Formats: sequence, C-alpha cells, structure tokens
Amino acid sequence: MEHVLENGTPDVFSPGRIGPLTLRNRIIKAATYEGLSHRSRVTTDLVDFHRAYAAGGVGMTTVAYCAVAPDGRTAPDQIQWTDEAMPGLRVLTEAVQAEGAAISAQIGHAGPVADSRGNKRHALSPSTRFPNMSFGVSRKAKAADLERITSAHAAAAVRAIEAGFDAVEVHLGHSYLPSAFLSPKVNHRKDEFGGSLENRARFGRGILRAVRDAVGDRIAILTKLNMSDGVRGGITVEEAIQTAQWIEQDGTVDAFEMTGGSSLLNPMYLFRGGAPVKEFVEVMPQPIKTVMRFAGKQFIREYPYRDAYLLDDARKVRAEITLPMVLLGGITDRSSMDLAMQEGFEFVAMGRALLREPDLVNRIAADAATPSLCIHCNLCMPTNFVGTHCPVVHEGSSRSATWGTPAGYA
Ligand SMILES: Cc1cc2nc3c(=O)[nH]c(=O)nc-3n(C[C@H](O)[C@H](O)[C@H](O)COP(=O)(O)O)c2cc1C
Repeated sequence: MEHVLENGTPDVFSPGRIGPLTLRNRIIKAATYEGLSHRSRVTTDLVDFHRAYAAGGVGMTTVAYCAVAPDGRTAPDQIQWTDEAMPGLRVLTEAVQAEGAAISAQIGHAGPVADSRGNKRHALSPSTRFPNMSFGVSRKAKAADLERITSAHAAAAVRAIEAGFDAVEVHLGHSYLPSAFLSPKVNHRKDEFGGSLENRARFGRGILRAVRDAVGDRIAILTKLNMSDGVRGGITVEEAIQTAQWIEQDGTVDAFEMTGGSSLLNPMYLFRGGAPVKEFVEVMPQPIKTVMRFAGKQFIREYPYRDAYLLDDARKVRAEITLPMVLLGGITDRSSMDLAMQEGFEFVAMGRALLREPDLVNRIAADAATPSLCIHCNLCMPTNFVGTHCPVVHEGSSRSATWGTPAGYA
C-alpha cells in the first residue's frame, strides 16, 4: 500500500513501481560517470562506489554510461557489454542488491560526444559539418550505422538482464547520438532522420522500440530525455513533450527522467552552480586542454543554482504524460523530494548531493531536517577522469578526497 503524507502526496520513502520493478523507496542515484572501469571491465572500486549508495539508502543506483558500441564511448576504458565484462557486472549487481537496492545500467551511444581519439574511431554525428568533443570533424552516421547502433542497444539491454540488472536507462539526452538527432541545432539531415520532429525523433524511438522488443517486461526501461539543449536553435520543451508523448504511445518505456543541456554545446546548463574551468583544463587530454585554456569560460558557462532547477520545464512534461516520471536536477533534501512528490513526480534522482554524501538518504530518513552538504561547486565533474568523487574535504565527510583509484578487478 502506498504511504501518503498528511497533505495526501506519496511519501518519497514508500515503495514505487517502474514497470515490472518495485523500488523500496522513490530515490534513485542518478548516473554520474564513475571513471572507475578499467579495460572496459568492472573494478572493485566501481563495486564499492555503487554499494555505498545502496547501503546509504537509495531505492536504485544507476551505473553511468555504458556504451553500446566501441565508437560510442566517451572514454576508452568505459564498460562495454562484452563476454569479458559480464563476470564483473554480475558481482556489481549482486553487491548492490545484497544491500536491498535495485540497479540500473545507463546505455547509450555518445555520437559527437564520444572520445574519437581515445576510441581511435570517428565520432558519429547526424551531420558531417558539426564538430565533436575531440575537436575533429565527425563522420555523418549512415543508415547502416543507425541500424547497427539500434541493434546494439537491444543487445546491451539483453546483456544487462543476463548480468542481473533490474533496469536500463536509455540515454536520449545531452547531445549523445539520439539526442543529437533530436536537436535541430545539430541535425541538418535531409533524409527521413532529419527535418521534422517526427523525423528527428525516429532514431531514438527506434532504439527504444528495439530495446522493448528485445526485453519485454523482463526489466524496467527508463529513458533520460532532453527538454532543452541550453542553446538557441536546440530542442524546445514543446518538442520534448511531443517526443515523450510519442514514446509513451509506443509503449517502449516504463518511466521518463527529463534532463537538459548538452555535453557538446553547453554542459553547465545541465548542472548549474560553479564552473570549474581551471580544474577541467588540468585534467583534459590534448587538444581539448588547449582549447579549454583559451575558450573554457565560453564553454563552461556559469548558471545560478537553485534546488529543483529543472522543475519548471519538467512540470510541463508531467502535465502531458501519464507514465511515472523522475524529477532530476538539484534534489538535495527532504523538502525538494517532497516538492517533487507534490508536483506529481513518482521518483527523484540525485547526483551531486550523493557524491558528496553517499549515505544522505539514510540520514534524511532518520531526520527529515538533514541538510545536504553539497555546495554545487561542480568540482566533482573533472574528477571523472580519475575516479569520480567529491573533492571537497570537510568535517564529517563520509568519503575522503583520495578515494577512487582502481585497485582490482571484479
Ligand atoms: C561527475 C558527474 C558525472 C556525470 N555523468 C553522467 C553520465 O554519465 N550520464 C548522465 O546522463 N548524466 C551524468 N551526469 C549528470 C547527472 O546524472 C545529473 O543529471 C546532474 O548531476 C544533475 O543532478 P544533480 O543536481 O542531482 O547533481 C553526471 C554528473 C556529474 C556531477
């Protein structure tokens, strides 16, 4: 039975359903790329990373960005769904489930955000003329590429079941390949994948269709979808609503997590708060390092932070969708969680606040007045090159700044 608060809204600590999956509460650890895999395999540090959120009380943790194909990786060591990775993935899922939490895998293809140098493969983009994250010219994705990548998503989802995952989160945001197709700013194609919104959404919808056909209801399917790219000429919230409605009608997902921003064009739109340009320059590989040194302030723009900063747009989507929705962006404490529930969201996802304090959910459960210690400085972002962590050391921190060097393989 669903618990409700005195004002009639669901209690964020009551169980919630996403398709075939019931979570012990409605709090999800958002995907924050860990930088803790090695040679595309799970390390013991990656297991410990997710075990900490599970032990810390979340309903589900999300293993960030596992590329479905080699040319879709944002880092060469990123987990891939190979035979070699499967034993480690099983150790990871079992460790999280032993703590009573569920575990989701974010699957996707980074397209123009991929690390083309590290991958030693062209980055794929809807249109050739657009640059990629490695500051080279992307290769325009051919129909055969799109078919290959669509099937690879389905294969990854099947592997996720075999590895014991409870859910997959299909990445349709942040200018990764399907999101780049959705965006009129990046997609200049003249074929059936460009032009009208229906055409631009075809690739992403096809991926979700393939995933659903491959897994049925054996696993929950979420999708992370952009409401705005944060740039003029990008996707609008109205287009995102229409896309979400089509996806809902397609019957291919069990929940939506709405996001925004573009790892390619405007990353900070997604984060808000501090813009750690200097720290990024230090860790970036060449030639991005040099470009960032001179143009970093334009690329890493600063946006003011406030709790639940994506709510205004997400509320518009919520009004037009009946499937469960996850509110993301600046969820840090009990009051922002309750706000999400009052606004009709069934779940919340938390990124940075949990990086700062993996046990924050348990502490909020024990004392609803518990504040988050995250200060949205975003210094965690550049740490994903060395093992993602909160580098702000403070009295009472539940994690040290030196945490995060891969120590062994699972
Ligand atoms: C270090 C770091 C890495 C991230 N990596 C990913 C990622 O791999 N995939 C993704 O969809 N979002 C990623 N994000 C974005 C988060 O999932 C989330 O959308 C964002 O942090 C806003 O939520 P928050 O305010 O709770 O932090 C990352 C965020 C951080 C801080």
